[in-house]
Amino acid sequence: MAPVKKPPLRHYLQFSDLSRAEYEYLFVRTRWIKDKFKRYQRYWPLEDRTLAMIFEKQSTRTRLSFEAGMHQLGGAAIFLNTRDSQLGRGEPVEDAAQVISRMCDLVMIRTFEQEILDRFAGSSRVPVINGLTNEYHPCQILADVYTFIEHRGSIKGKTVAWIGDSNNVCNTWLQAAGVFDFKLNISTPPGYEIEPERRNSNCESFADPMQAAKGAQLVTTDVWTSMGFEAENEERKKDFEDWQVDAEMMKTARKDALFMHCLPAHRGEEVSAGVIDGGQSVVWEEAENRLHTQKALMEFLLLGKVKS
Ligand code: CP
Ligand code: NVA
Repeated sequence: MAPVKKPPLRHYLQFSDLSRAEYEYLFVRTRWIKDKFKRYQRYWPLEDRTLAMIFEKQSTRTRLSFEAGMHQLGGAAIFLNTRDSQLGRGEPVEDAAQVISRMCDLVMIRTFEQEILDRFAGSSRVPVINGLTNEYHPCQILADVYTFIEHRGSIKGKTVAWIGDSNNVCNTWLQAAGVFDFKLNISTPPGYEIEPERRNSNCESFADPMQAAKGAQLVTTDVWTSMGFEAENEERKKDFEDWQVDAEMMKTARKDALFMHCLPAHRGEEVSAGVIDGGQSVVWEEAENRLHTQKALMEFLLLGKVKS
């Protein structure tokens, strides 16, 4: 049998793994794929392909969007978690990668340390996607940037304000600012600053969250306590008290500023109910776009560039 032609092996482990030109391509594909989905038109480029989804942390959106997305592209998705698989009983990551990547065409992993993901990818024969680690959440920012562009056009040269924890989502916004060349204003409480090595020339830190939000075209935040840090919850609630995105903060941003949150959200903590449920919030569109952008990503990783 003649060998199958495959695109070169690519992984999506952090946002900087794709170039700006590749993102632009993905956004064109996303629009096309989303449009087809909205018209109930079948598009099955990944028929007979299988996605393995490995979860070491909980999820609603990531699981649903990958599983539904793979199904809609004609393929199948298999859910594995640490509790029910040998992964939770100490099987080496490299061994798991060897086996899983011989049975499946694509792997999505949500885990703790980025190093686990990197090691898995290092032994995988098929593309590996980061479904969230302690360090990064690239699929989220892929959807967020797409959502911004859908509403406001190019993000280049715009100002995004990040209010809150210097977590995996913040680290990914930092990479995105470098890729798309927008300004990222960051305000975190004392003691929760971004690690200095993550800084780039697109970011500026502000002690006062109101100053960070000033003039921004997008204000975004996330939970005060990320998965894996639950023991710090009570302390964080006190430390982050002044880092709530509320109506007053949205007023210091531009009049047409959008509000985003990766979800799940805690109304009354990182965001007021008035803001997340208000007219500037695009959180539901943002969540929906996880589906469409990830379908474009899976298509790209498995088939390379295709014509729209
Ligand atoms: N935003 C996000 O990744 O949500 P889940 O934790 O529900 O997957
Ligand atoms: N920063 C959050 C994002 C959840 C989607 C967490 O890691 O729990």
